[in-house]
Amino acid sequence: MPSCEIGLIGLAVMGQNLALNIAQHGFKISVYNRTASKVDDTLTRAKNEGNLPVEGHKDLPSFIDSIAKPRKIILLVKAGPAVDKILDDVVPLLAKGDMVIDGGNEWFESTEARTTKMEALGFKYLGMGVSGGEDGARYGPALMPGGSPDAYEALKPIVEKIAAQVEEGPCVSYIGPGGSGNYVKMVHNGIEYGDMELIAEAYDLLKRLGGLTNDDLNEVFKRWNQGELQSFLIEITADIFTQVDEYDNHHRLIDKILDVAGSKGTGMWTVQEAARRGVPIPTIQSALDMRYISVFKKLRVDASRVFPKRPLATQDKERLIKDVQDALYCSKICSYAQGMILLRVASDEQKWNLNLAEIARGWKGGCIIRAKFLDRIRSAFTKNKELQSLLLDESFAEEIKEREAGWRRVVSMAQQQGIPVAALSASLSYFDAASSDHLPLNLVQAQRDYFGAHTYKRIDRTDGPHHTIWARTTEL
Ligand code: 6PG
Repeated sequence: MPSCEIGLIGLAVMGQNLALNIAQHGFKISVYNRTASKVDDTLTRAKNEGNLPVEGHKDLPSFIDSIAKPRKIILLVKAGPAVDKILDDVVPLLAKGDMVIDGGNEWFESTEARTTKMEALGFKYLGMGVSGGEDGARYGPALMPGGSPDAYEALKPIVEKIAAQVEEGPCVSYIGPGGSGNYVKMVHNGIEYGDMELIAEAYDLLKRLGGLTNDDLNEVFKRWNQGELQSFLIEITADIFTQVDEYDNHHRLIDKILDVAGSKGTGMWTVQEAARRGVPIPTIQSALDMRYISVFKKLRVDASRVFPKRPLATQDKERLIKDVQDALYCSKICSYAQGMILLRVASDEQKWNLNLAEIARGWKGGCIIRAKFLDRIRSAFTKNKELQSLLLDESFAEEIKEREAGWRRVVSMAQQQGIPVAALSASLSYFDAASSDHLPLNLVQAQRDYFGAHTYKRIDRTDGPHHTIWARTTEL
């Protein structure tokens, strides 16, 4: 008689911690990993962390047999072909009604294809975004499950227990059909890229224009974490400034880390997806571009010799700190506005019926972008389900108006002094364009019509489209 309530395949960092989290909540779990030593490691941890109810298996048939039907099997393996490979091995062992839950950062269309395939075979499938890193997986992640709705109902009693808990409930709810769970996680990651870049630019400005030391930066970020910017990323940033270098204890580790940032692909997907759907997300895109620019280290160093920077004019510290805080906050509003519009457009096009207020609530705990600010987003979308942009929410609009001058001062000062502020300035340009009743795109339309007969619409007539034989002074 199978005694395990759930199974998990893939015992790397996330899988191992999620399995222990599930067991910690009293659900007996069966685990399997292709490399058998990981099964032993998990069993040792389960024993050491309080004799948690984990059963280990080193072959797939016995693993599958150990789970009660209808089986619930979570996959935490590398996204992409590894998921197809494991499904090929697992599917012949399953019984009708069993369900598979992919917890990786998977491309949403792959999840949709697998859902269709699995449902046709009589199984159920969920693509579930899992956020929060190692600690989140172990002590309470944010979970974003999408796919077969009845699979979610079966999983609900478990995921509601293991997810991060906030005042408003567990950080999990059914996101929607198809690949919507993966999609929401992907946009979460895009927003995460934007937040991280904005914070990095704030750090650079405070350090280079304000002359703040690592201890000063620690103080400022701790202070910011008490107010409107309160968030996991601000909190860990404060800690980062105090970490002493283990190889040279006269220095802080932050000053020894190479300025080249990696990325695993979800930020790139967000930018590609936004471009595909015609949704502008310049804050997130500039965050991705900065990671890419960082990788060209040698080129940057060579060019820095060609274009030596002038000495920086330091600024009044307290004023600068306040202006940078304002710039960061306003840019954050723009970045989330972009991400939420992308979700709304995707939801309409895919017919997912996403609940943006509920998504913001689900991000309040456990995940990397968890922040006090998400309460505000939740209430903006609760107040007005049809809200088209956070910039149109009255209270966000008021806050931007109060902070706009500081934001502009910071961006122009940085640009005058040659300090790159890609995300802060992209956010400001987004704000200016997205709140302009006129853009010079009439000229772009004229150019398109001039050289390519692409036609244009007029502001004073409803007929059209129009095409003009332009008076040419240049032969094309
Ligand atoms: C999370 C994170 C996690 C990871 C991403 C992004 O929510 O727990 O988003 O999924 O940080 O893989 O990593 P990169 O910065 O390497 O792209």
